[in-house]
Amino acid sequence: MNTISLMMPLDMHLHLRDDDMLKVVAPLTSYTFSGALVMPNLVPPVTTKEMVKSYRHRIIEAMESDDFEPYMTLFYQHYSREFLESVQDDITAIKIYPSGATTNSEGGVVSFDIEPMRETLEAMSDLGIILSVHGETNGFVMDREAEFMSVYEMLASNFPKLKIIMEHITTREAVEMLDRYENLYATVTVHHLMITLDDVAGGMLRPHLFCKPIAKRPHDREALLKIALAAHPKVMFGSDSAPHPKDKKESCGCGAGVFTAPIALQLLCEIFEEYNALDNLQAFVSDNAQRIYGICPDYKEVVLIKHDFVVPQMYGEVVPMRAGETLRWSIERVD
Ligand code: DOR
Ligand code: ZN
Repeated sequence: MNTISLMMPLDMHLHLRDDDMLKVVAPLTSYTFSGALVMPNLVPPVTTKEMVKSYRHRIIEAMESDDFEPYMTLFYQHYSREFLESVQDDITAIKIYPSGATTNSEGGVVSFDIEPMRETLEAMSDLGIILSVHGETNGFVMDREAEFMSVYEMLASNFPKLKIIMEHITTREAVEMLDRYENLYATVTVHHLMITLDDVAGGMLRPHLFCKPIAKRPHDREALLKIALAAHPKVMFGSDSAPHPKDKKESCGCGAGVFTAPIALQLLCEIFEEYNALDNLQAFVSDNAQRIYGICPDYKEVVLIKHDFVVPQMYGEVVPMRAGETLRWSIERVD
């Protein structure tokens, strides 16, 4: 197979930032994706209807295509039912962060105790608003996601009608959790399909591969590959592409985030081809998300061709994953 056609690719976990950064990165995603779930961890975080609407407007202005839908999210706080009713048509999901777990998450929750969250989560469940979760405790960095599994169990069993997305899963434990509760789903990034902690810190430190959750062990990566390559029906692609300026990554106190937006589809072709699973790529990058989220993106066909593509060193101020390296697939055209 020398070309691959992907219909309506979706990135169900994306950081677009704001201002100048937004202007650089938004067109890179809107070129090859039909839509993306846009994360709300701006400074300050997106917490009101006005903020959602004006952020959406700024995204649309920054995109260079009119066939891309930004699916908007709110940053989780304890919201009233009345507020959620008023905002439900403007958002697709609410993203919950444990306070301090990652970039710009200081305003996240300090505890996952059910009772204080009940009103908001019950209202979300009734209104069909999806809960998107950054699932890490504040424990030892390699164990944070596995330790969070009890929180997923508690959320999934207390709110059985609430759709819960385990975002950017990185462990075998999270993969095993998927089928235990009907209302649990997951996104998987492309970088977590490719790297382990060894790639980040096993040799010279590679700041552009440093992200949260941190890449884990080989058996974790294998578990992720298994569900992604099979396009498990509860799993979808979410890049977690998270741009930081070069000087903030190559510094003492490197921010977490891997920037993959412009090369995500090319890398996915490479991986799915390597494992003879290209037939499942369409479901992983679009069909599963359409079904899980109940969304119908506008028509877009992306044709990739088996042609070398040298990844640029920089996009604006941002260094992408695999900068300067040659990928086996490139974008041939977008219709
Ligand atoms: O590595 C990450 N970067 N993980 C996240 O959860 C947030 C993201 C960011 O916003 O930079
Ligand atoms: Zn993220």
